[in-house]
Amino acid sequence: MRDVAVIGVGWPKWGELWKKDIRNIFVEAALMAIDDAGVDHIDSMYVASMSPGLWSKQEHIGAMMADYLGQNPIPAVRVESACASGGMAVRLGFIEVASGMSDIVLVGGVEKMWTGEDFTAILATAADQEYEAFHGLTFPALYALMARRHMHEFGTKREQLAMVSVKNHANGAKNPRAQYQREITIDAVLNSPPVADPLNLLDCSPVTDGAAALILAPVELAKKISKRPIVQIIGSGAATDSIALSDRDTYVELPAVKKAAEKAYKMAGVGPEDIDLAEVHDCFTIAEIIVTEDLGFFEKGKGGEAVEQGLTKIGGKIPINTSGGLKSKGHPVGATGVAQVIEITEQLWGVSGERQVEGAKIGLAQNMGGSGASSTVHILKRID
Ligand code: COA
Repeated sequence: MRDVAVIGVGWPKWGELWKKDIRNIFVEAALMAIDDAGVDHIDSMYVASMSPGLWSKQEHIGAMMADYLGQNPIPAVRVESACASGGMAVRLGFIEVASGMSDIVLVGGVEKMWTGEDFTAILATAADQEYEAFHGLTFPALYALMARRHMHEFGTKREQLAMVSVKNHANGAKNPRAQYQREITIDAVLNSPPVADPLNLLDCSPVTDGAAALILAPVELAKKISKRPIVQIIGSGAATDSIALSDRDTYVELPAVKKAAEKAYKMAGVGPEDIDLAEVHDCFTIAEIIVTEDLGFFEKGKGGEAVEQGLTKIGGKIPINTSGGLKSKGHPVGATGVAQVIEITEQLWGVSGERQVEGAKIGLAQNMGGSGASSTVHILKRID
């Protein structure tokens, strides 16, 4: 296998983009990434997107995006793994470059969620339709069940969930691409409208339009053309689990996350103690707490305390979601996993401005679909 580097990134601002359709949103990010990498062509492209058919009535977006990007006849395909579509696309691009099949691969993600369609019902198609969605279980409800069980088993406090949101909004306030660039308080979270007890509106990631794109190339090529430090993907792991939460033995851990992490750590030859910062899938505040435990950053049951002690803030033991996380920067589902890898790459390049984690050398990006039925973990390292 060849070593693979991220050589360019494109991430325009996310939010409610009523004046743009899915193709404009994607093409803007892809062109930014191509410009940033300074390449004159791409060999192949992956377009992560959960549900363009239901939101925009548009399928076949691999070919469509290659067309509107002026890149026909390159091979291009949509990648779908619900909210983990982006992470899965990064993995496929990584495999294609590592295998020697292609040299320059664009990996992008896009979701256009504000179209007037019922976003809660569309998102719920990523759950088990017959055993969950038809009975009224939405994603906020599924994560609320996990939150209740975590509180019951480990004494995790309601306020600790709120602290995840407060921290991520503080980071997102410093991210010009975030949907909600504002700080919030614990009281604001606790008094925001209830969505699915114990989760309130400010425990939930929002509904977002947006895209993100990056360019992958062999490290040897990156050394010749890149003016920035080389950031290599040193580990990639992916795993799946039961689609229905009720089919699991536990509600307080996410086995697919643990498995994907185990594989990524093994490939990278590092452990949780070597990671300087991480982007994790905080679709709901409880998700960040469970995932940081399952990645091995904290003991099972101690994720809530870690947030309260400030261990996951910028400047803490292991900064989590310096981008603002899904909570503050937004969650255009297909784009999320790609943007996570961009945040880590920029941190390792040392260009994250006010959000910069000093001396960051190794970072991790964890993305997941549904209530953890699919997950990816990527580990990136700056090579000096
Ligand atoms: N975080 C911060 N602010 C939010 C927000 C969020 N998650 N969601 C909405 N807001 C803001 C809006 O901007 C709006 O502010 P304004 O009054 O100043 O304009 C206000 O809160 C009300 O917004 P509204 O659009 O009416 O909220 P809603 O009740 O329709 O939707 C949620 C709120 C939480 C239900 C919705 O964002 C949601 O379903 N989130 C989860 C998405 C999801 O499941 N993703 C997949 C994860 S697996």
